[in-house]
Amino acid sequence: MSGLRGQVDEARGRLAQARRVAVLTGAGISAASGLPTFRGPGGVWEEFRPEELATPVAYARDPHRVWAWYAWRYRMACEASPNRAHELLVALERAVGDGFLLVTQNVDGLHRRAGSQRVVELHGTLHRARCEACGERFALPPPDRFVPPPHCPRCGSRARPDVVWFGELLPAAAYRVAHEAFQAAEVALVVGTSAVVEPAASLGRVARRAGAYLVEVNPEATPLTPLAHLSLRCGAVEGLELLLGTQPS
Ligand code: APR
Repeated sequence: MSGLRGQVDEARGRLAQARRVAVLTGAGISAASGLPTFRGPGGVWEEFRPEELATPVAYARDPHRVWAWYAWRYRMACEASPNRAHELLVALERAVGDGFLLVTQNVDGLHRRAGSQRVVELHGTLHRARCEACGERFALPPPDRFVPPPHCPRCGSRARPDVVWFGELLPAAAYRVAHEAFQAAEVALVVGTSAVVEPAASLGRVARRAGAYLVEVNPEATPLTPLAHLSLRCGAVEGLELLLGTQPS
């Protein structure tokens, strides 16, 4: 216990002093907001198969089914509220300033709603659609007025969810910004991701290889755990409270 306390104190000290901090989050950070994760018990991929819903082929085959699923998730995300873990990352961003970047794989929009500003949404967002013809991105109406599929306000063509599906490339500029932040980070914090979906999963490794102090928060071990200087085996709220909250460890 005293060993863990010492490690937490060291991590708190490094976070307090670092001028460049990069954070990667996954579905686990929104679990306390009532949104399901993808993998593991109760995860979305227990009930649905990714290739039936989250691929370009699935969308081409049955766009109405895919849109119904995204509309359901969009409603859930709108009805959820950011939790204390999202809020603690807002406070960290304010403390660090320009050297901070939050990279999320989540499409729920909860980081922005909590107040995070330096955010890269690597896998897109449930709150927007993208025109299949002209590429225009636009915000969806509120869930109770939204009837999928949406149509482009510019050219009238059908639009798809503005998310990155399996088999698609991440937006190059967003990934470059994320990679640079992890490469330059003094402290990298990885919260609530199974760290199995590339290339996001590699960001922690990139930071570690470049000399960052790597902290993981996850109730389960992940492929990143052996590389982490500190791995807190707990939920995001509890873990970030330990690392960033006002309570002494
Ligand atoms: N706090 C922190 N972590 C948690 C919590 C919690 N309360 N509950 C569960 N977790 C952890 C799980 O142990 C798991 O490692 O969150 C992780 C969630 O993993 P995934 O469901 O695989 O989510 P994520 O890593 O974000 O998935 C990456 O896969 O399907 C795609 O596009 C989807 O962006 C997603 C990507």
